[in-house]
Amino acid sequence: MNFAEIIEKKKHREELSTDEIKWLISNYITGDVPDYQMASFAMAVWFNQMTSQETSDLTQAMIDSGITYDLSQVSGRKADKHSTGGVGDKTSLIFSPLVASFGVKVAKLSGRGLGQTGGTIDKLESCPGWTGEISNEEFIHNLNTVGISIMAQSSAVVPADKKLYALRDVTGTVDSIPLISASIMSKKLVVPADSIILDVKMGSGAFMKDLDSAIELSNTMIEIGKHHHRNIGAMITNMDRPLGRAIGNAIEVKEAWDTLHGRGPDDLVELCTTAAAITLMQNGIFKTIEEGKTELVKKLNDGSTAHFLKDFIEAQHGDFSVIENYDQHFTTKHAIQIFAKQDGFLKFNSTDELGLLSMRLGAGRARKEDSIDFAAGIYLHKSSDEAVKNGDLVMTLFTNRDDVANFEKDAYALFDINAQQTNEPTILKVMYNVSEVNN
Ligand code: URA
Repeated sequence: MNFAEIIEKKKHREELSTDEIKWLISNYITGDVPDYQMASFAMAVWFNQMTSQETSDLTQAMIDSGITYDLSQVSGRKADKHSTGGVGDKTSLIFSPLVASFGVKVAKLSGRGLGQTGGTIDKLESCPGWTGEISNEEFIHNLNTVGISIMAQSSAVVPADKKLYALRDVTGTVDSIPLISASIMSKKLVVPADSIILDVKMGSGAFMKDLDSAIELSNTMIEIGKHHHRNIGAMITNMDRPLGRAIGNAIEVKEAWDTLHGRGPDDLVELCTTAAAITLMQNGIFKTIEEGKTELVKKLNDGSTAHFLKDFIEAQHGDFSVIENYDQHFTTKHAIQIFAKQDGFLKFNSTDELGLLSMRLGAGRARKEDSIDFAAGIYLHKSSDEAVKNGDLVMTLFTNRDDVANFEKDAYALFDINAQQTNEPTILKVMYNVSEVNN
């Protein structure tokens, strides 16, 4: 095969064969296809898209570049969830206990945060000793005993994505729906879960800035999942506002723990119970989302699922007592208070900027090699659309860094206080075909 011919075909919108796609990914991995040719191909895809068959073939070729997992030794149904990444997104820490409490095992690979978005692995590492670098045996053992296990995504998983993503990042080809879909789904499909729920974020803190492109991305990923015989659903959720009140690492684990005891903010409860209800429908436990949500809200209010979070963190060697005694363990040199200067309704100008401020406080990394300050972050005493009065505390910034005046100035620029509420919903769309339950 000849790579230049493959590029020509894509340039002229001809459909590539399964073998051509396999060939291009395997030769890219070995270095036989150089970066400049792959960059040209990625740009041709950016302009001309891919058919559903091509996107599915690309996903499979990427999966074949690395290791996959075998869950045949795990009893019962297995569920996975994926978020395209947001600010304050600690959903997995609440979703997993809710789902596991019904005997559906949550088996996940997760990543670290970069830039404005946090990563589940970083959040969990705020419990000293917790590790996502566990063996397959430990992964399977934890699934069979606790019902939840989260592994850090190793470099052996879909190495083609790592190489291709780095190239896309510097060639203006990240924001291509077929390439994003194949990238995300290849990393999901290596874990053979029975069901997948995708949380596709939309808004200023997300890749997808409008509803049409979020729907297109969701549909493309759902198609890939179906090609791979998975029971898959998606929800499009609002990232024009941060999720919940806590942004950071330990502070988000604490908010998850509080939510599991019935003390969670409404938007977070809504999102977690909806995701868990869809997953439990996918696995034959509930017939409707509403029925599921009613039961799940009861479980949050009675605190009966909280122990799953603690058990899972302890099973992966984490010291959970730091979260139970949060104030003793996570103190910072500065706690900068930001106040409302008029009456009205709070509106964040940019969720992205809020995530970036949290990163600068020490809670995230600007570059992959940066380290994280687990105690740093932001607590929103008031969130989007909440009524505030002049003088009310809006947020506290926790940091060990001394750039206090700039942090304070930047925090004040992050929000407006308007006369009207925006009334934006947390969940913008649910995409799940009920007839597929138990397929
Ligand atoms: N997240 C991924 O994993 N891949 C992309 O291409 C974009 C977001």
